[in-house]
Amino acid sequence: MVKSQNITWHDSEVTKKERQEKNGHKSVVLWFTGLSGSGKSTISVALEKALFERGVRSYRLDGDNIRHGLNNNLGFSPEDRKENIRRIGEVSKLLADAGLITLTAFISPYREDRDHVREILEDGEFVEVYTKASVAACEERDPKQLYKKARAGEIKNFTGIDAPYEAPEHPEIIVDTEENSVEEAVEQIIRYLEDQKVI
Ligand code: ADX
Repeated sequence: MVKSQNITWHDSEVTKKERQEKNGHKSVVLWFTGLSGSGKSTISVALEKALFERGVRSYRLDGDNIRHGLNNNLGFSPEDRKENIRRIGEVSKLLADAGLITLTAFISPYREDRDHVREILEDGEFVEVYTKASVAACEERDPKQLYKKARAGEIKNFTGIDAPYEAPEHPEIIVDTEENSVEEAVEQIIRYLEDQKVI
């Protein structure tokens, strides 16, 4: 619900385009989505480093980290997950305006919520990266031992166990993390950014 009233937009004298030109690359949002343990954080960390080393100005927003601060008042109900993604979508939009390449790593289980972020960004700015791995594979990895807790009933509404995950229908990039290494995933995404003339 929109509660803000009597507010006025002030434009900057520096445009997004000028910032992009100075940076030497376009700004996009690499929106990682996938189950917990599917590789979103690991790949985005490695990709951020690779981009940094190439002189690309980038910044990573990660679900577990953002929930320590900005979104620490949100839980895992469908409403709270929606608000989590809405806020990160808005932050990503600001970072895109700042001329950066943003990497977001949130489960973002609902298609509608991801599509909303796509809509608030400019055409071509939202790059959906689906880290594809089965529940069985993620449960086998279980890096944070959360699937174990979910199976034991200690965590309720855990994505893939007793809460839904809606896989993207037309993601820009699918990274099959059961088949490919982190390095291969990073190369695949960098190749996409080069092909699209983002970097
Ligand atoms: S999202 O669904 O709202 O997009 P987000 O990516 O921010 O989720 O946070 C997911 C992380 O929170 C998981 O990687 C895991 O560490 C932790 N977590 C805690 N409870 C849950 C839960 N019920 N379902 C999924 N992840 C959970």
